[in-house]
Amino acid sequence: MIQRLRLGVNIDHVATIRNARGGDHPDPVRAAQIVALCGGDGITAHLREDRRHIRDEDIARIQAATDLPLNFEMAATDEMLEFALRHRPHAACIVPERREERTTEGGLDAAGQHNRLAPIVARLSDAGIRVSLFIAPEERQIEAAMKLRAPVVELHTGEYAHAEGEQVAIELRRLSDMAALAAKNGIEPHAGHGLTYDNVQPVAAIPQLAELNIGHYLIGEAIFTGLEPAVLRMRELMDAAR
Ligand code: PXP
Repeated sequence: MIQRLRLGVNIDHVATIRNARGGDHPDPVRAAQIVALCGGDGITAHLREDRRHIRDEDIARIQAATDLPLNFEMAATDEMLEFALRHRPHAACIVPERREERTTEGGLDAAGQHNRLAPIVARLSDAGIRVSLFIAPEERQIEAAMKLRAPVVELHTGEYAHAEGEQVAIELRRLSDMAALAAKNGIEPHAGHGLTYDNVQPVAAIPQLAELNIGHYLIGEAIFTGLEPAVLRMRELMDAAR
């Protein structure tokens, strides 16, 4: 039997709208509570170096407001490591971060940055935080995740989401092959980035995937329909694809 696919909702962009006016509204904590009420399986939030959306104090507020597991997205920096160790989220997803990018544009170079990542993965794991590495669906990155003893990888679906024509099937194949490779080696594969109602189902159908993390599109849809119907619709599409 194929396991149920979890839906983690990334609420960063509720904070983006809040920060546009510098006040407290809309509050990402309220979004987290709605996600919990309508059956989301987790909350994802990325504390970026420039604090462009989620702010430091949001993390503790989200943790206090819901029982859902928090997937804390973080760059591999000393500052973020100390922050994660202080707040002890359920999971920490290590992502690459460049100040000038609009969003997390590529995967983490787990292969090229082994020495930088090894102590960070070890310290997070020792603290009981489930480490995930946000990587491109490439064999060498899965192998690097194995060497780093990361229990989870999140496969970057951005290339798939932006692909057109014949490239769509090629990107999907990469995701499916790398999900299988990760699972075969005892790593739990997740996926995310750029997923929408229109493109989620082929990804959700990959049997080894345990979790999808979806943000921007859901928050965008929530403007038109409300957050609860948006999450429920995504859930329905994911379940139908399994
Ligand atoms: N997973 C990771 C690791 C991310 O960095 C992001 C974007 O912040 C997402 C998932 C969600 O991507 P999107 O906002 O495009 O749905």
